[in-house]
Amino acid sequence: MNNMEQTLSIIKPDAVERHLENEIKDVFKNKGFSIIKEKKIQLEKEEAEKFYKVHETKPFYNDLCNYLSSGPIVVMVLEKENGVIANRELMGATNPADADEGTIRKKYGISIDKNSVHGSDSVENARIEIDFFFKD
Ligand code: CDP
Ligand code: MG
Repeated sequence: MNNMEQTLSIIKPDAVERHLENEIKDVFKNKGFSIIKEKKIQLEKEEAEKFYKVHETKPFYNDLCNYLSSGPIVVMVLEKENGVIANRELMGATNPADADEGTIRKKYGISIDKNSVHGSDSVENARIEIDFFFKD
């Protein structure tokens, strides 16, 4: 069985600010992910709003978009067998307080908003999110 999948990963401002970029990339590589594309950027608020549009009715939407655009982020296309779910498992629960031992959010996350990483939640959304950042 071969089901190589690509997924979009973001190292969020709280982690970039703490110089965790290389450490987190090593976690992905050590778990068998290939980093196919990557770039370090800072989003405008309007771009963050577009990226997180699915959450626009949520009470945390405005803070979330301010936060994602508050500093540099590292955006990556990761690839692995069943990569979308594998990345979600490696990231851990949205709230680091609920995240399992051995997950990125458990180890590096500060709070539910500063949870260090984003990862696509489905194959369909992975395609949309990869296009959002890497469509030439
Ligand atoms: O990132 P993930 O897919 O695990 O969670 P989400 O439900 O798609 O929410 C997107 C992001 O919004 C989360 O990663 C949190 O940083 C943030 N969030 C928040 O600040 N407060 C909440 N109650 C829920 C999510
Ligand atoms: Mg999500």
